[in-house]
Amino acid sequence: MKSSPFKISLLCASLSAQAYAIAAIDEHTYANLDEVVSTHLYLDLNVDFADKELEGFVEHTLAWKKKQARSLVLDTRDLTIHRVIYETAEGTWKAAKFTLADRDDVKGSKLTITFQNQAKRVRVYYNSRPEASGLQWLTPEQTASKSHPFMYSQSQAIHARSWIPVQDSPAMRVTYQARVQTPKEVRAVMSADNTGAIIRDGDYHFDMPQAIPPYLIAIGAGNLDYKEMSHQTAIFAEQQILDASVWEFADTQAMIDKTSKMYGEYAWGRYDLLMLPPSFPFGGMENPRLSFITPTVVAGDRSLVNLIAHELAHSWSGNLVTNATWEDLWLNEGFTSYVENRIMEEVFGRERAVMEQALDTAGLKALLTQISEPDTRLNLKLNGRDPDDAFSSVPYTKGQLFLIYLEEKYGREKFDAFVKSYFKAFSFKSVTTAEFERYLADNLINKYPGIVSPEKVTEWIHAPGLPADAPNPTSDVFDKVDAETKAWLTAGKAIAELPSAQWTVHEWLHFINNLPRDLNQERMVELDKAFNLTDSTNAEIAFAWYMLAIGNGYEAIYPAVEKHLTGIGRRKLIVPIYKSLISHGKKAWAEKVYLNARPSYHPLAQGTMDDMFAQ
Ligand code: BES
Ligand code: ZN
Repeated sequence: MKSSPFKISLLCASLSAQAYAIAAIDEHTYANLDEVVSTHLYLDLNVDFADKELEGFVEHTLAWKKKQARSLVLDTRDLTIHRVIYETAEGTWKAAKFTLADRDDVKGSKLTITFQNQAKRVRVYYNSRPEASGLQWLTPEQTASKSHPFMYSQSQAIHARSWIPVQDSPAMRVTYQARVQTPKEVRAVMSADNTGAIIRDGDYHFDMPQAIPPYLIAIGAGNLDYKEMSHQTAIFAEQQILDASVWEFADTQAMIDKTSKMYGEYAWGRYDLLMLPPSFPFGGMENPRLSFITPTVVAGDRSLVNLIAHELAHSWSGNLVTNATWEDLWLNEGFTSYVENRIMEEVFGRERAVMEQALDTAGLKALLTQISEPDTRLNLKLNGRDPDDAFSSVPYTKGQLFLIYLEEKYGREKFDAFVKSYFKAFSFKSVTTAEFERYLADNLINKYPGIVSPEKVTEWIHAPGLPADAPNPTSDVFDKVDAETKAWLTAGKAIAELPSAQWTVHEWLHFINNLPRDLNQERMVELDKAFNLTDSTNAEIAFAWYMLAIGNGYEAIYPAVEKHLTGIGRRKLIVPIYKSLISHGKKAWAEKVYLNARPSYHPLAQGTMDDMFAQ
């Protein structure tokens, strides 16, 4: 029989990925993946807003790996397990024995299910609890519309287990289908085909035919309208923010088209966005087919849309090619930050892309002086720690700088071909850092010898800090801002003469971040009077200004800071402010604000802040 070229290329792709396969050891799962893996999930869940619980069952379809194996181990955290049944060889359903172990602070509770034979399907009836680490439940008063409740999930890194009993490891993949019931007037959406949620009637069906790691299973439910932006993209949002979001993110289709050209076809069909309430603890989350987005990037001038480029980029790095363990997070986030910036360059030009590189690099350099040395490595050693605790911009920006370094050494043509081939070879697979290193050696370093040494690669991936010859992105535009700032600070230039009317948000951020940390009160008043920074409606600018102002005791910001801290829950924009308030003698005030803001924060943000105030 003649095989088609299509089949051959598929075979090659899988062989080449297999050639690099090194068994991943994921210390953050209890799952016995070497014995049995679930390949498909069916979720049947009721969204109970009154009790803040998801209630129903998950059915796992199982593929057994070892002949003698008779048990399935799932990850859970704070779940109530009601009963477990499995399908016997005769096709009847029977109760299965199960034990739920004591709760481990990081990993949760191991759920062990035992069978008499190797069951093909098993159903776990359960409910999540109000304190689920991966869910936020909002009352109507905490939403923009004030009329309907809202709930959403955030499963990365190891929170899927707080709302689904699952083999919660990025080293495995499942397809899934779901039926979700809500109050009639609420719409639910998932990281799946959402056509089954078009009619708003409280009964929704979802289908995710592509295999994804469990951390990408996601749900949101609320007073959601939607609007198409292009043939492939739409926004789900509360009506109050829908039109502004559609305007802000109008370039999404162009981003998809450019990325597909550079790195291979977009694999997921539609790319929609779900606008979350401001309490969402992240900027964005790359849930496949439906990125989850903070409203704090709807600035009114498209200045923060690199966030969309970032979440979209994960459709290649992360969702197609996935980190095998959380110690390999840099493979997801470093590649994504690199691709994000390439998208920004394609859509908005080189100047803006370089400004974003320079801002991120400055942020990374500041951070490197603050965190413990082991956490400045790309390939992290978590040693059982919660992946959330080692989270920083290291995997993002150091990872990105490593890839920029390679791009500069080999030239775009060769490097782009390498990245494209890497995405293709490992599509729908999970990769460890060691596998990546072998692939990189074979397909770039040894293929074009004498350009980058293997030792240099090892230094980037395994040594702390930044290599001495790391790229140091500089922007001409920022150089001009620096010159103007200097003229104002030291040469008597009037503030009104700064060419600030033409500054982009990036120039503003560079300006504020580079002002002396000990600016005197007159200077602060002068700045605030001239530019009204305390009341900036751009969350990033406001954040940068508050950080400067707290540092040098400029008290006029406090009412605005209180509003900022109670109005939003994005960790990146609130945690450093609390930290700085505490270290500048304002702990009592900060704690008062926090206790007031706490009920509207996500459990993850609450956890971070509770720890900070407990110290
Ligand atoms: N996947 C991340 C968020 C994440 C990472 C959640 C690790 C939990 C564990 C998302 O893609 C992300 O990186 N968001 C950034 C975007 C920014 C770099 C443009 C954020 O939220 O700030
Ligand atoms: Zn990311």
